[in-house]
Amino acid sequence: MIHVTRRYRFSASHRLHAAPLSESANRELYGKCNNPYGHGHNYVLEVSVRGPMEARSGSAVNAAALDRLVTDHVIGAFDHKNLNTQVPGFAAVVPTTENMALEVQKRLHSHWHTAFPGAWPKLEKIRIYETRRNVVELATSSPTE
Ligand code: NI
Repeated sequence: MIHVTRRYRFSASHRLHAAPLSESANRELYGKCNNPYGHGHNYVLEVSVRGPMEARSGSAVNAAALDRLVTDHVIGAFDHKNLNTQVPGFAAVVPTTENMALEVQKRLHSHWHTAFPGAWPKLEKIRIYETRRNVVELATSSPTE
């Protein structure tokens, strides 16, 4: 089994604010990311897949197909957007890096079989770097496994 990771970049703005919590609890929890006027991050997204080596192509994943999938359904939807107001998945969900990883997983899973009709590769891991000090990793769970 081979593990392959592709890296992507996007910029987006957000405000982290949990409506059920008080103003002070929000400030305490999210710090600067609770700033009422929002702010941006330059995100790095890594998508890891696993699959068997395919001798004919010498590869374990069709990188162009993965790039298209990620670009069409994640980067295109997130890049230079206000996550809170322009991405429907965050209308009622706080766009923390953790929730962003879950949203990326949802988007990739729902279009996975169009991009990869065969049994392989499988989505394995999503990692998002929000800042140098904030990195979230999601070991993806396949809806069919
Ligand atoms: Ni932030």
